[in-house]
Amino acid sequence: MFADKQTVLDAFHFRHACKRYDPDKKISREDFDFILETARLSPSSFGLEPWRFLVIQNPELRRALAPLAWGAAEKLDCSHFMILLARTADATRAGYRHRMWSEVHAIAADVVEQREAKFSHFAEHDFRLNETPRAFNDWTAKQSYIALANMMTAAALIGIDSTAVEGFDQAAVDQLLADNGLLDPAEHRTALMAAFGYRAAEPRAKTRRAAAEVVQWVE
Ligand SMILES: Cc1cc2nc3c(=O)[nH]c(=O)nc-3n(C[C@H](O)[C@H](O)[C@H](O)COP(=O)(O)O)c2cc1C
Repeated sequence: MFADKQTVLDAFHFRHACKRYDPDKKISREDFDFILETARLSPSSFGLEPWRFLVIQNPELRRALAPLAWGAAEKLDCSHFMILLARTADATRAGYRHRMWSEVHAIAADVVEQREAKFSHFAEHDFRLNETPRAFNDWTAKQSYIALANMMTAAALIGIDSTAVEGFDQAAVDQLLADNGLLDPAEHRTALMAAFGYRAAEPRAKTRRAAAEVVQWVE
């Protein structure tokens, strides 16, 4: 047991899509490193970690993002602004997969071979990831959403606010990042963005559908 249930639930109620940040309140380096560590430790399908996290602290780049990211309006002056990148199909080819499995996860060569066979079946047949480059990239992007969910929860647990941001022109943001040497379009696409910092005002109480409407027990 690492935390009592009420503490975790309190953090879920504390977390909300923060609309406006206090521009003068900055997250400490130690706290932001803690948040980043929860992204690094996040699970991913087949352990492929098909993500990259850009922490955009450069004011000029933040200003350039503003007209391309309507969902980030009033959030670009937050303490830490992040762009989550997801690997393309090309960048997740066999060479990358094998390096991940054998070097990063220290999996034995025969097991790597089995995993590759399983992955090929999964990508070709089960999830049809190879139908279009877009299908594959949408799947890698899904993995980065898990990392962001973990970061947002971890941030809330230490009293830090956040906002997931999907409101942006993906092609235009990819181009901006490429122009600034931050993204190679052959390797990554922008998956989503996130703001982190401290709220400028208190939010409304949380609103959600009732559990009975979203959960079905099958016994
Ligand atoms: C994937 C994702 C993308 C989102 N994109 C935006 C966005 O671009 N701008 C914004 O202000 N809120 C954005 N939100 C916040 C949602 O609107 C918000 O989480 C939802 O309305 C529930 O409210 P709550 O998070 O305050 O409980 C996004 C949330 C998620 C999960």
